[in-house]
Amino acid sequence: MREHHHFLTLDEFTIQQLRLFPHATGELSGLLRSIGLAAKRVNAEVRRAGLVDILGNAGRTNVQGEEVQKLDAYANNEFIKVLRAGIHCAGIVSEEMEKMVVFDDPQNNQSKYVVMMDPLDGSGNIDVNNSIGTIFGIYRRVTPQGTPCDMEDFLQPGIRQVAAGYIIYGSSTMLVYATRRGVNGFTLDDTVGEFYHCFSNYRIPDTGEFYAFDHRYYFQLDPPVKRYVDYCMSETNGKKPYALRYAGCMLADIHRILIKGGIFLYPARKDKPEGKLRLMYECNPMAFIIEVAGGRATDGNRRILEIVPEDIHQRTPLFIGSSKMVETFEQSLKG
Ligand code: AHG
Ligand code: MN
Ligand code: MN
Ligand code: MN
Repeated sequence: MREHHHFLTLDEFTIQQLRLFPHATGELSGLLRSIGLAAKRVNAEVRRAGLVDILGNAGRTNVQGEEVQKLDAYANNEFIKVLRAGIHCAGIVSEEMEKMVVFDDPQNNQSKYVVMMDPLDGSGNIDVNNSIGTIFGIYRRVTPQGTPCDMEDFLQPGIRQVAAGYIIYGSSTMLVYATRRGVNGFTLDDTVGEFYHCFSNYRIPDTGEFYAFDHRYYFQLDPPVKRYVDYCMSETNGKKPYALRYAGCMLADIHRILIKGGIFLYPARKDKPEGKLRLMYECNPMAFIIEVAGGRATDGNRRILEIVPEDIHQRTPLFIGSSKMVETFEQSLKG
């Protein structure tokens, strides 16, 4: 048996980070601990899917008009329960809840953070045992501590995220999170129930040879985006065709791109003029992580992180990944 290296646990790591900031209060560590705990609970269900009654749909649709899967609902409830009990979160917005959830109690009202989350991303992958995940973005509230949080705490541009991250329930379960200081990765050792810090300061390669795009939308694309997809497949001036990798779970697709380089495209199309992905709890957290790692994210016109939100569930086209590839994409939009 291979030796288990001694890595810092998620808690040890965030506490060590705290020492670098004399005025830090430890609330962010506390919040990340809660997220890690909820993730472990979701992971336990994911690992037993098929044995316990967690596959299939829950028999209702959410505010997005999507069929809610049992695991979507389970993950949503676990994260809400744990974050509420964890006292470091004033409230949350979730893909699965039409309205924001304000944790209006004396403890949580004192906390300075709110969380936006996609409890389960890639829920189409649940029943077929492919990668799924959880995405989160953390903001410092703008309303005063001591009062219940409010809509303006959530409707902030992504650039104001204090931290953002995801958990990928893949061939192993990992938690990746970014602060302005860097992107770090933690692997869950479920024999002991701890996330261990295995990957320091991820840097996304400047360029790559992978693209992620669902070709069923090809004929609905605007001509400039279509041109870029053609470019991905083409052989020009020494460029080889890019390899297509599409997991059907944006966080899994983007996780691969973070490590291997590449570009992920979820464009607008005729039947979905805003695209499908949600700005607040899908695009913004992934854009924050990728930018901190040295990559780029745009909606075609604007940097994702600078979009001023109007609605907690608003959608946006997303083009994200290696900086050079996204720049080439932006150039090709211009003609
Ligand atoms: P969710 O499961 O949170 O609703 O998100 C699914 C998203 C994303 O993960 C994936 O890339 C995309 O939907 C796939 O969309 P379609 O196949 O429906 O276009
Ligand atoms: Mn959904
Ligand atoms: Mn999602
Ligand atoms: Mn989801």
